[in-house]
Amino acid sequence: MKTQSQDFAELKVDGKVIRLPIVVGTEGERALDITGLRRQSGLVTLDPGFANTASCTSQITYVDGEHGILRYRGIPIEELVKKAMFVDVAYLLVHGQLPNASERRSFSEQLNLSSLLHEDMRHFFDHMPQGAHPMHILSTMINAMTAFYPNVDIKSMADNIDESCARAISIVRTMAAFAYKKSIGEPVVYPRHDLSYCANFLNMMFDSPVKPYRIEPEAVRMLNLLFIIHADHEQNCSTSTVRVVGSAQVNLYATISAGISALSGPLHGGANQAVMEMLRTIQADGDVMKFIRMAKDKDNPFRLMGFGHRVYKTYDPRAEIVRRECDAFLSKLHYRDPLLDVAREVEAAALKDEYFIERHLYPNVDFYTGIIYRAMGIPENMFTVMFALARLPGWVAHWREMIGDDTKLVRPRQIYTGCPLCGMDTDLSVNRTLVI
Ligand code: ACO
Repeated sequence: MKTQSQDFAELKVDGKVIRLPIVVGTEGERALDITGLRRQSGLVTLDPGFANTASCTSQITYVDGEHGILRYRGIPIEELVKKAMFVDVAYLLVHGQLPNASERRSFSEQLNLSSLLHEDMRHFFDHMPQGAHPMHILSTMINAMTAFYPNVDIKSMADNIDESCARAISIVRTMAAFAYKKSIGEPVVYPRHDLSYCANFLNMMFDSPVKPYRIEPEAVRMLNLLFIIHADHEQNCSTSTVRVVGSAQVNLYATISAGISALSGPLHGGANQAVMEMLRTIQADGDVMKFIRMAKDKDNPFRLMGFGHRVYKTYDPRAEIVRRECDAFLSKLHYRDPLLDVAREVEAAALKDEYFIERHLYPNVDFYTGIIYRAMGIPENMFTVMFALARLPGWVAHWREMIGDDTKLVRPRQIYTGCPLCGMDTDLSVNRTLVI
């Protein structure tokens, strides 16, 4: 709910005063509405990386980066991880409120019914190169859904919106598990109607005809928790991608495919895999302080992966939850990971270092999650896929909100800094006889 306050900011340009309305969000955040600025003054705003730009209004998720607050539809993340399952949170994000018993039943039923992949799509996996990264396989497969499922134009999808949203959330989980099975050369395991969302995923990942998988309730609980804390994070890079692509009235599957590509980058979701690679390198070297020095050195491209965040300038509340849960989970599984000791050492060293203190650099959600996934037996190249599965309800919720909002096509301006007007100094007609 945005409100147009009575307040205006005044901008004086070339002797002319321009009044810019101030928009106020539910939690009191204020923004200058610059939609009329160019018309009135000929000026645009310049904000690389949109670091200071609210690209839309949204009712889904609230983040306060200064105070470490994260709420979905008004409910604090700490409460959701204690009292809800991932499926409840997915419903909350997509539908706007937590489900009652009958809504939950029918949502679970919808997820179940749409969990099967079109059988012809299964063969696609056979033709992916063995070493392909599962994130790339996933984005390719989701894009292919556009061809395999009927009525994917935006109008049909909007008319069957509950079904379209449930299918996207459910089927990507099946694809992710199939991609993994193919990568290790094992037969795929189909989804089961009698398992919960997270248990089903673990079963599709680890069950095998020669070694049945025993579903570990503690792993299911932890996966629910990790999926909940990753489920949405307002206008992050991949969600913004979903909104940008979706603003051209592209269907849900194609926008999610684009979101997955954005998430795969090491500065975004790919960081959880990069953290593990970094921790292993530090462990092999043995000198934590050397890496802290490297991260501070402006001539060295090295950064502490899993540290820093565009929005959080305090401890990421999700990282706080994961950090707390990590020890307990590992001890319940009787699993000891020396990389956890390295992570703790890195964190302690960074948090008392002036460089990190001054810049408000704290561990982000990716810093400890990899250690938990490793303990569950999830291979490192699947870590970002886990993030993608968890983020699906967020992407779906934003796409749904956007198409219902009469959103404008996203088309930013730029400030051109190339050559000024110049003529052609080469006569290309001289070489016309060459076939190009
Ligand atoms: N290690 C060392 N220095 C860092 C780090 C880091 N991880 N992160 C930021 N800094 C420094 C920058 O060098 C910069 O220093 P300066 O002011 O002296 O130039 C300052 O802190 C501000 O950093 P920016 O890059 O301007 O901050 P931005 O908001 O653009 O970047 C980002 C945020 C991309 C997450 C960054 O902190 C980073 O690269 N972190 C490591 C990768 C990572 O963990 N990504 C996952 C993010 S969470 C997620 O997507 C789920």
